[in-house]
Amino acid sequence: MPAVIRSAQEMQSRSRQLRQAGRRIGFVPTMGALHEGHLSLVRAAKRECDEVVVSIYVNPTQFGRGEDFDRYPRNLDRDLQLLAELDVPWVFAPTDSEMYPAGFDTWVEVGRIAQPWEGTFRPGHFRGVATVVLKLFHLVEPDVAYFGEKDYQQLLVVRQMVRDLNLPVEIRACPTVREPDGLAMSSRNQYLSPRERQDALVLYRSLCLAQERVSAGENDARAVTAAMRELISSVPYAQVDYVALVDPETLEEVTIIDRPVQALLAVRLGSTRLIDNMRIVPP
Ligand code: PAJ
Repeated sequence: MPAVIRSAQEMQSRSRQLRQAGRRIGFVPTMGALHEGHLSLVRAAKRECDEVVVSIYVNPTQFGRGEDFDRYPRNLDRDLQLLAELDVPWVFAPTDSEMYPAGFDTWVEVGRIAQPWEGTFRPGHFRGVATVVLKLFHLVEPDVAYFGEKDYQQLLVVRQMVRDLNLPVEIRACPTVREPDGLAMSSRNQYLSPRERQDALVLYRSLCLAQERVSAGENDARAVTAAMRELISSVPYAQVDYVALVDPETLEEVTIIDRPVQALLAVRLGSTRLIDNMRIVPP
């Protein structure tokens, strides 16, 4: 079983020791309820690094009021079992009082990249993400940190922070892992009823439809997003937060698809909010 480190100070001194011994540290930050998506990041870290640290921490500051912090799935024993199968030596699972002791009062102020899309629908979310990721980077001091493309905007927010604050860590992006039918793996998929699980396929299908239309020569982004929305509306209770084709670096919406773009979407099915994205490439 991996060694579970609870204290911030202990994490920092362990990883200092590893680095002093010349070990290259790969870091995979997670909120637990691990699935193949998370494990693919762990495998990438294992391939490229000497030591792998996985953090498991459901970060309260990235959840808004009325979001799912209280019901977010937590199952540390199962997570440790999965990580043991991959021979992960270190799990950092801090307590809330270690991460946010009484009087905590300093935040990362995220900029433009954090404003649209998720930033609009989840105000304060990326401020919480950036703050906890910066803290985790200081505690683990990794050489390389692994993030999933599944959370595309999060990846860009973290990259921007690393550049702007000169953090000595390399960020690696790993592709989205999907269920056999195409649904992007997510800890939140556990919330879905069997009916919702079936209907959740419209997210992936609408992304594929976007690529089909673009491959067939459509270059008007509005026409493509309209087709995506129409497909999603085949699930009458699905509520779209946004569907957009954006510049893959700036996340600004595009009008003409004359180069690769990123399709982004967020859809609510009952009380579950799902996000997904895909690179769409014109012929
Ligand atoms: P969490 O949702 O647990 O995701 C942890 C990492 O796994 C993220 O980098 C995420 O993009 C990646 N991931 C999730 N599902 C994936 C999938 N289907 N395929 C590939 N990668 C996937 O993202 C967070 O936690 C938190 O915001 C965190 C960065 C840990 C900060 O609290």
